[in-house]
Amino acid sequence: MISIFLGAPGTGKGTQAKRFVQSRGWPQLSTGDMFREAIKNETPVGKEAKHYLDNGELVPDEVTVGIVRDRVKRDDCQNGFILDGFPRTIAQAEALKILLTDMNRSLDSVVLFEVPDEQIVKRLSGRRVCQSCGAVFHVEFSPSKKEGVCDACGSQLIQRKDDQVDVIAKRLEVYKKQTSPLIDFYKKEGLLRIVDASKSADAVYEEVSKVLQS
Ligand code: AP5
Repeated sequence: MISIFLGAPGTGKGTQAKRFVQSRGWPQLSTGDMFREAIKNETPVGKEAKHYLDNGELVPDEVTVGIVRDRVKRDDCQNGFILDGFPRTIAQAEALKILLTDMNRSLDSVVLFEVPDEQIVKRLSGRRVCQSCGAVFHVEFSPSKKEGVCDACGSQLIQRKDDQVDVIAKRLEVYKKQTSPLIDFYKKEGLLRIVDASKSADAVYEEVSKVLQS
């Protein structure tokens, strides 16, 4: 099973992808997480990507396609994977098509997460993430047991730099301009499945599970 989780920032793609890692064992290939890891480790890719992430802009296509190309060849992707946050431009979608064809594989579905903008701002501005293990919380919707401390590993929770209100606005603008054309692209390919992601995380999980089986 190879599926793309598509949608604006903060629509819950990462939250749901993590649930499928747990329940089905499909790895979550999050380009955002890969870039954050590269920035933390100060790799050449991290040094190039940092400015774009901080400003809510897209990292250039050739860099992004390069990290995905390396990642999908790893052994854990043999039985399928979820692409979370990739592709984000038509050029990336075209590159993915070629990459999968070269590997003799194909895309099964593209799940579009839909959430109204006001709700997205609330979700992102209240998000807190664990710097050590990557667990994700929300100050109101899924708070940690002890404020500012990760339930999973006890490390400190932080707010992502790009979850400041002004950067959220920029990310939404970038999504509308550069990523939303993918909706028509995948509709034409007959792969698009739309999910109302404004519901509770449990309800969204049920809906995505049904969509992936159809
Ligand atoms: P990335 O990390 O991919 O950010 P994003 O797409 O903007 O997505 P988010 O992680 O912000 O949101 P999400 O949909 O995963 O929501 P989540 O589940 O966390 O990318 C960051 C940057 O990297 C980009 O800006 C760009 O610079 C670069 N980049 C990445 N990929 C790239 C690419 N392909 N090309 C070029 N550049 C790229 O949920 C959000 C919050 O809501 C959480 O607090 C969660 O607890 C809460 N929540 C989730 N679901 C629910 C629910 N159902 N009800 C209530 N609360 C919920």
